[in-house]
Amino acid sequence: MIRRMSEKDLPAVIDLYENYMFEPLFIRFGRETLRLVLNGLIRNGLSFVYEEAGKVRGFICAGREPKTLWRRLLRERNLALLKRTAAAVLFDPSLLLLIVQCPSYFRKNSVSKAKAELLLISVHPEQQGRGIATALIEKVLLILKENDIRKVKVNTVRENTAVNRLLEKKGFIPLAEFRFWGKNNILYESAVDEQC
Ligand SMILES: CC(C)(COP(=O)(O)OP(=O)(O)OC[C@H]1O[C@@H](n2cnc3c(N)ncnc32)[C@H](O)[C@@H]1OP(=O)(O)O)[C@@H](O)C(=O)NCCC(=O)NCCS
Repeated sequence: MIRRMSEKDLPAVIDLYENYMFEPLFIRFGRETLRLVLNGLIRNGLSFVYEEAGKVRGFICAGREPKTLWRRLLRERNLALLKRTAAAVLFDPSLLLLIVQCPSYFRKNSVSKAKAELLLISVHPEQQGRGIATALIEKVLLILKENDIRKVKVNTVRENTAVNRLLEKKGFIPLAEFRFWGKNNILYESAVDEQC
C-alpha cells in the first residue's frame, strides 16, 4: 500500500536513508537535521511510503520548484535547522565546504525548468527488484499530472546504476552532468504526461 508519509514513519524512513541510500552524504549533518528536513518535506512536498505487513519497505520525497521548497523549509525551521547545522559544523568543520557549494547546486540544477523534482527515494535491500520504486515514482507523477505540472527533474549520482536504470526505464532523459559535493551528478528530466 502506498500512503502519505507521516511523522511517525520518520524513524523507519531515516533508517532507510541512513543505511541504504547510495553514499548518503547528508546524514553527516546528523539524524536530527534529516528529521527536520523530512518533516518539512511531509508538510510542503509530496512524500509517500510503501507499507506492507505494517512495515515501511520504501519511501519517496518529491517537491514543487526546488528553490522555493528549500527556501520555505529554511524559513519554517530556521532556528532549529541553524542550531543543528552549526553543531554539526563544530563537530566536523569539513561540512562547511559542503554548505558553501549549495548555491552552485541550484544554479546547475536550473538547467532544467521543470516545476517539480524527485528528491529522495530508497527501498529496503530485501525488498528491491519488486517494482516498489517504480510504484512510488508513478504515484508522485500521477499527483503532479493532477496538479497540471508538465515536467519533472531529478539528480542522481552517475555511479548509482540502479537508480539511473530505473529512471531511464521510466523515460527520464539525461539533460546535463555536473560535479556536486565531490560526485558526478546526472540531471534527468521527463515529461509528466508520458509517464502516466
Ligand atoms: C534505486 C532503487 C530505489 C530501486 O528500487 P527497486 O524497488 O528495487 O526498483 P524497481 O523494482 O522498481 O526496479 C525498476 C527498474 O529499475 C532498474 N533497477 C533496479 N535495481 C537495479 C539494480 N540493482 N541494477 C540495475 N538496474 C536496476 C531495472 O531497470 C528495474 O527494472 P527490471 O526489474 O525490469 O529490470 C533501490 O535500488 C534503492 O533503494 N537503492 C538505494 C537508495 C538509492 O540509491 N536511492 C537513489 C538515490 S538518488
